[in-house]
Amino acid sequence: MSAQVKFTLDETQIPKYWYNIAADLPTPPAVLHPATQQPVGPSDLEPLFPMELILQEVSTEREIEIPEPVRDIFRLWRPSPLIRARRLEQALDTPAKIYFKYEGVSPAGSHKPNSAIPQAWFNKQAGIKKLTTETGAGQWGSSLAFAGSLFGIDVTVYQVRCSYDQKPYRRALMETYGAKCISSPSTQTESGRAALAANPDSPGSLGIAISEAVEIAVKNPDVKYALGSVLNHVLLHQTIIGQEAIKQFELTGDDPDVIIACAGGGSNFAGLAFPFLGLTLRGGRRRRVIAVEPAACPTLTRGKYAYDYGDTAHLTPLVKMHTLGSTFVPPGFHAGGLRYHGMSGQVSQAYELGLIEARAYQQLACFEAGVQFARAEGIVPAPESTHAVRCAIDEALRCKAEGKAETICFNLSGHGHFDMGAYINYFSGKLVDQDYDAAELASSLAELPQVAAE
Ligand SMILES: Cc1ncc(COP(=O)(O)O)c(C=O)c1O
Repeated sequence: MSAQVKFTLDETQIPKYWYNIAADLPTPPAVLHPATQQPVGPSDLEPLFPMELILQEVSTEREIEIPEPVRDIFRLWRPSPLIRARRLEQALDTPAKIYFKYEGVSPAGSHKPNSAIPQAWFNKQAGIKKLTTETGAGQWGSSLAFAGSLFGIDVTVYQVRCSYDQKPYRRALMETYGAKCISSPSTQTESGRAALAANPDSPGSLGIAISEAVEIAVKNPDVKYALGSVLNHVLLHQTIIGQEAIKQFELTGDDPDVIIACAGGGSNFAGLAFPFLGLTLRGGRRRRVIAVEPAACPTLTRGKYAYDYGDTAHLTPLVKMHTLGSTFVPPGFHAGGLRYHGMSGQVSQAYELGLIEARAYQQLACFEAGVQFARAEGIVPAPESTHAVRCAIDEALRCKAEGKAETICFNLSGHGHFDMGAYINYFSGKLVDQDYDAAELASSLAELPQVAAE
């Protein structure tokens, strides 16, 4: 057995194409216009996105070329390492082999720049000079701010209020890159004012922040909108993670039996999992693939598979997805990037087809795993990523109990250097498990739109 720990590729091995799982899945349910409930066409999306991104959104081509200038910027941190967590394996005394793909090496500290760079580049190509967006953890906002600084695009970020209050240094990072960061719900948009009127103390949600950012883009023809997850083109951009991992596993001599990632809107999960699922869908071996979500916002494990809006103010198209209802506001737990009411249509479709599993964890169990991981491997995981770490540790302990030497691979989607406030709360015993409000979930599910196409 090789004692190697880090499996790296050189810059020439950055993928040249994104992998589009739409080529290998059955035709998905149509995306519908929020007002007419008719299937949306490319022109319906033009107020929000440049045409190249809209074409990626609806493409069924298996491979979509990554523009050379985008690959050139990726050289700043890609290919990201695949690391064998040997010290964690020893600490757990497990026969399992644990590998993780580490996306925290990017300038913003997570996988999010993998999509921020191409989104900003395609907007720049279309002559766009202003972008709005939302951010939950602050990771996506920082990433788009970074991308905007490279391409001379003004970026305004609506940051979910509880995350804005928890993480002042994320805002400072966005401002360092030249972006403007506004706490959401804000008084600057109709959607924000409506959310504040309903609850002046609202902790905010990704659904509300998306409404604010979309509203600004719809009302200002010179502004476009960028989304950090959920949409097909965002998942597409993240597939460089799994494509690199496939090449890196060839260097290890192992082949993952279990693939794990946390899922908020689904992009880092899809980024690692879809290229492996593609191999299976084209006749390769079947692996277990697990999406991990917070028990306080359990979209896949407790949500309904139904048409729903992507935002609270119902400005976005209707997508068939696993949803808790667009008005659902999850409790203000620390994994802000996982506080989204819905799940990407493609991840939801894969779940319905039985291609993937889902699991939900409370935050204390996740922080415990994050600390155990940091003490063995040195990297402090982002609160979102601790969900994947928890699941990987549980799978490794299952292997120990069953005496199986399986190979586990998880996506360490980001580091937690801006999340130390959450770790401080964890160490001082202030962090508690939070349950969602069952009555609120029932009422938000009762408000799901009635869609004739279902
Ligand atoms: C570190 C990290 N991991 C995971 C996520 C979840 O997002 P997604 O499901 O799009 O990967 C986020 C979102 O902000 C994040 O910051």
